[in-house]
Amino acid sequence: MSANASSPIGVFDSGIGGLTVVRALMERLPFENIVYFGDTARVPYGVKSVETIAHFTTQIAQFLLEKDVKLLVIACNTMAAVAAQVVKDLSPVPVLDVIDAGAVAARGGKRIGVIGTPTTINSNAYARAIHDHAPDSRIHSQACALFVPLVEEGWLDHEVTRLTAQEYMKPLLAEHIDTLVLGCTHYPLLKPLLREVVGKDVALVDSAEAMAEQVAAVLTDRHLANPGPAAPRYDFYVTDVPLRFQTIGERFLGRTLNNVHVVKW
Ligand code: DGL
Repeated sequence: MSANASSPIGVFDSGIGGLTVVRALMERLPFENIVYFGDTARVPYGVKSVETIAHFTTQIAQFLLEKDVKLLVIACNTMAAVAAQVVKDLSPVPVLDVIDAGAVAARGGKRIGVIGTPTTINSNAYARAIHDHAPDSRIHSQACALFVPLVEEGWLDHEVTRLTAQEYMKPLLAEHIDTLVLGCTHYPLLKPLLREVVGKDVALVDSAEAMAEQVAAVLTDRHLANPGPAAPRYDFYVTDVPLRFQTIGERFLGRTLNNVHVVKW
């Protein structure tokens, strides 16, 4: 069967972090069916090699294409940083990635800070993507390896997280950034704390929200938007159900997590 307006959007991530993107999609596009894949058995990707990430990413994209998705969304910044092209090469349906979405949203900035996992930052993918849209901007990047575990621990408004954020933001603030791109699935949950640390004059770019806008535009453009009004179906495929999965997942999604299926690879 070929994809049409009622086909689901396929969203994938290294684990449950990509649920921040699903949440933004649910809010922006309430009639769309969504199939999510989170590689919870092999997360985190943010410290793995490019070869390994490309291999895992291919496997996941193929799984979702078999579900007849009409669009693929790479919700994971780390996968988008090193394996977006791999997915684009194999996919017959459009592929959108969070890095491109974040870069488009950041294009108004002149001195742009980017934060992400070590693999994302080392790849320089954000700097390249931002320069494509804003060639005159200056980009200052900072890997924030400790943010993912702190968010998963639920320490969203905790002194340890605040001190960690102050430390990570120091070099960026010294460069007087006017924009900060949250280049990781987990960072939207730190928005209130980061806002406190960087002050009110720095624009925060949430790549999950930016992605929802891009998806909406592409679906309209290709006449693939689901007009509704039937309630959408949401399915969540994961490779493992780790400890506290439900609690953490629901924190990311902002609602109850149902229809969870475990894929044994
Ligand atoms: N999803 C990853 C990202 O957006 C964070 C978690 C991981 O390291 O796998 O970069």
